[in-house]
Amino acid sequence: MWDLVCYLTFNVGLGLTSLIFPLKPRTTHLVSFPLANHLGALSHLRHSTPLVARSSSSADLQVMFDASVPATIDNGCLKIPLQGKGTKYKIKLSVETLTDDEEIPPPSDKLAAVSLLQEGAFSSPTVEKQRFRRHVPVKSILCRPDGGAGLAGQKVLIFGWVRTARLQGKGSFAFLEVNDGSCPAYLQVIVDASLSDDLSKLIAKGTCVVVDGCLKLPPQGTKQKIELKVEEVVSVGTVDQIASVARIRNALAFATHSFFQSQSFLYVNTPIITTSDCEGAGEMFQVTTLISATEKLERELMENPPPTEADRASKDITASLAELANAKLSLSRTVERSRLKPGLRLQLESYACALGSVYTFGPTFRAENSHTSRHLAEFWIVEPELALADLKEDMDCAEAYVRYMCTSLQENSGILREKIVVMAKNVGDGCIDRLELVASTPFVRVTYTDAIELLKEAVAQGETFENQVEWGINLVFEHERYLTEVVFQKPVIVYNYPKGIKAFYMRVNDDGKTVAAMDVLVPKVGELIGGSQREERYAVLMNRLEEIGLPVEPYEWYLDLRRHGTVKHSGFGLGFERMVLFATGMDNIRDVIPFPRYPGRADL
Ligand code: 4AD
Ligand code: MG
Repeated sequence: MWDLVCYLTFNVGLGLTSLIFPLKPRTTHLVSFPLANHLGALSHLRHSTPLVARSSSSADLQVMFDASVPATIDNGCLKIPLQGKGTKYKIKLSVETLTDDEEIPPPSDKLAAVSLLQEGAFSSPTVEKQRFRRHVPVKSILCRPDGGAGLAGQKVLIFGWVRTARLQGKGSFAFLEVNDGSCPAYLQVIVDASLSDDLSKLIAKGTCVVVDGCLKLPPQGTKQKIELKVEEVVSVGTVDQIASVARIRNALAFATHSFFQSQSFLYVNTPIITTSDCEGAGEMFQVTTLISATEKLERELMENPPPTEADRASKDITASLAELANAKLSLSRTVERSRLKPGLRLQLESYACALGSVYTFGPTFRAENSHTSRHLAEFWIVEPELALADLKEDMDCAEAYVRYMCTSLQENSGILREKIVVMAKNVGDGCIDRLELVASTPFVRVTYTDAIELLKEAVAQGETFENQVEWGINLVFEHERYLTEVVFQKPVIVYNYPKGIKAFYMRVNDDGKTVAAMDVLVPKVGELIGGSQREERYAVLMNRLEEIGLPVEPYEWYLDLRRHGTVKHSGFGLGFERMVLFATGMDNIRDVIPFPRYPGRADL
């Protein structure tokens, strides 16, 4: 002989989606109630007074509702016969064994539904007020037998999280399904575009909304019994997009390795601290221990004031002072020479010239004081170096790599795909279209000289740029975007740049004026990749160093690659965060890297 605990669930289509209470049936006490008034009967039930019954059977119990047998309320308990005539409803009960003494705990997670069953709660034409809080729980609207219909016309403040949402009427209003955790049901909320500065912010799954409005009956034929017409959007907690960005970033990193590994490139790791200015640009962070060493010296001097004349006579002190002076000197030398690398390329070249094609993928640093939405002080860069490749092959590789990443994101199914769709919805930016465009369209290739001509034509036709267009300028963001978004409306590779604006290691073209450099420009972010064929001719490279005024000594090892067994080679660098910006549609590069570092910010 043992006891049973049963949870009984009703779904009566009257808004009361689940009603569960502990029940201990006895075979001798059958429980039953007429369908017509079962809700009334149940309203007498208290979850603290469960039915007690005893059974010798281990089989699942079936409760059969018989309309002809009236329910009896006995001592606060609802009694329903387990067997009755003319069975109409069967509900399977979950059964679990208890010892005789064990208490039957009320199903605390399910009590919300039970506690609704207060007398009079069903018929009230006003919403249930809460103490301490202004908002109305969704439960008290939807978990009524009338599904909330009786509350039409009531003003309520609702808060909750958006489960699904859609823009309707060409974006003139939105339907949100909102749940506040008070019950499993969702309230349909309608928000007019005029109530929000950006309706698209509300429709991301998981967004928290606080809205004030009026409950109204929906049009006939819809499954909802009641809906909320919003009159004021009180506040919006937008969905944190970091998780989606992190997943897309991860997929791009994976695609990077897949692409280069599938093409037999060797992954190599290059150092970060250097004493040479490998880009010749001079925008490098210095590595110094001078500050902490100076502080230490100061502390020591405070603790041990300078020696008196008499002390100086002592040999020990003289030796210590000499040691300190030496330490200071060596520190200042280190400061002078050590820097954080702005690129990883020079070492890559030596590997490429020994092992064939290689690539690296790591953090890199730029000390330029750029506060734009496309610049970071520390960012990640993917740099392949192709042995025996000229500029054309370099461009082919860059194009194939970018298209591979876009294709792999598109082909990805499951959670990543969902994230991209959510991002596209949230950001309201055509990132999915852009991915498709890049994956499916060959890139345009245009020389720098032709690009300048195109921009000049645009100016002649009334286009205005802040930066004047003339041969020899560095193309800036506005020019890049114009070329890729307006002129070609697809990714563009601009190549053969004036040598005056490019680094010393880029191969000088036969015209003597341009170098075999290329930039890949894509819609939204502008420059995504910068690369070049490297100058493999020793004499020309020496000339370039001299022309630019760079010292030869730090580059001796690099020049050795030209002295012994030189070979033509090319490479490029893809700014990884710019690729993430492109793929996610995010606007600011600081939002696509964990703990961004930019001028004035490196504290976390
Ligand atoms: O064009 P860059 O300066 O080229 C190089 O670093 C070469 N050493 C690459 C090579 O030939 N191996 O930089 C490459 C890319 C740019 O196209 C841009 O996408 C990104 O790096 N980039 C930045 N991204 C974020 N913040 C910055 N401050 C960036 N500077 C460049
Ligand atoms: Mg560049």
